[in-house]
Amino acid sequence: MKKTPHRRRTPMFEVRHSRIHGFGVFALRRIRKGTTIIEYLGDRVSHEQADARYEDKDPNDNHTFLFTVDSKTVIDGGVDGNEARYINHGCDPNCESTTLNKRIFIEAIRTIQPGEELSYDYQIQRDSDDAPNVDEVFACRCGAEKCRGSMLEAAKKPRKAARRTPSRTAGKKGASRKRSKRRDGAGKRSQRRGR
Ligand SMILES: C[S@@+](CC[C@H](N)C(=O)[O-])C[C@H]1O[C@@H](n2cnc3c(N)ncnc32)[C@H](O)[C@@H]1O
Ligand SMILES: [Zn+2]
Repeated sequence: MKKTPHRRRTPMFEVRHSRIHGFGVFALRRIRKGTTIIEYLGDRVSHEQADARYEDKDPNDNHTFLFTVDSKTVIDGGVDGNEARYINHGCDPNCESTTLNKRIFIEAIRTIQPGEELSYDYQIQRDSDDAPNVDEVFACRCGAEKCRGSMLEAAKKPRKAARRTPSRTAGKKGASRKRSKRRDGAGKRSQRRGR
């Protein structure tokens, strides 16, 4: 019997240089809305371990491969990670991150054409003790018309009545995470990206 030749399907994406930052991930074929593109893989560590790993890095360096799963777990895409770690932030993104059974997946939120760069909104969490220049440090270069200028979540509008500041949480679920930094040598604090 004649064998049907096996046709290899074009891979869904490739990693290459991006105009936004460093490397990015680009569609090689049309990706339909709703497609799960890739799982965000890496070393799964506690928030404390993530803090300890990057505590000595320059606070003005915004580069992070950390992704918050929940209050206990952070994925460090810089250790045993896959191509998902190269997906850049976009303020008008074509993808979003979703959490399923404590795993993070990147999914298309609209149909993506070949050649388009994949992006999702990191919505990096703001913290009450962020440095005044935090928006500069995390400045966004996505180039979208709707670019909000920052990879951080949108700043909350000031409230009229004074409210107690809620205590810090361990970060938003399914969220990119700021790198760790030391607070005046007095100990560490975690910083995370948010969705
Ligand atoms: C998960 S990595 C993405 C891959 C990165 N381009 C690389 O080559 O390593 C996240 C880092 O990429 C940079 N980045 C991603 N999106 C960006 C954007 N829209 N504007 C500026 N920098 C961005 C920031 O340094 C961010 O911490
Ligand atoms: Zn932007």
